[in-house]
Amino acid sequence: TYEKLWLIAAMLLIVGFIATITYGSVGLGIAMVGDQQETVEPTQLGEDDRFAEPRVEHVGENQYEAYVIAQTFRFQPDPIEVPANSEVTFHVTSRDVIHSFSVAGTNINTMVIPGEVAEMTVEFDDPEEYGIVCNEYCGPDHHNMEGQLHVV
Ligand code: CUA
Repeated sequence: TYEKLWLIAAMLLIVGFIATITYGSVGLGIAMVGDQQETVEPTQLGEDDRFAEPRVEHVGENQYEAYVIAQTFRFQPDPIEVPANSEVTFHVTSRDVIHSFSVAGTNINTMVIPGEVAEMTVEFDDPEEYGIVCNEYCGPDHHNMEGQLHVV
């Protein structure tokens, strides 16, 4: 019947939309990898000791490693506190769905994918307080998913 055909057509259209959206976001993620993100071997978060406790670690003179977990609808630790005149390598992963780790007013902006660790190294010269936001739709409170990055 015509009703059935319309139903099938509508479903194909929806599948097409989803495919387009998925393809689009993947394409975006790949573009950023070349810029400033290295996605390391997929890891299982539960088995990865580095993320047992979200934290900032002092690893050398002016050098820090930040282990950050994104999870609906927050970032941990919060705030992330690092000293001025430091070099910080961020390791960011997600416990649940795709988020982003985007520091307002900087070019720190990376997709955070469950099972993968996004890494980037950033130099901070001056004390400043930055807001962290999530740019990937991750659920009803996506727009409230915020954190703080304090350079002190
Ligand atoms: Cu997390 Cu949007």
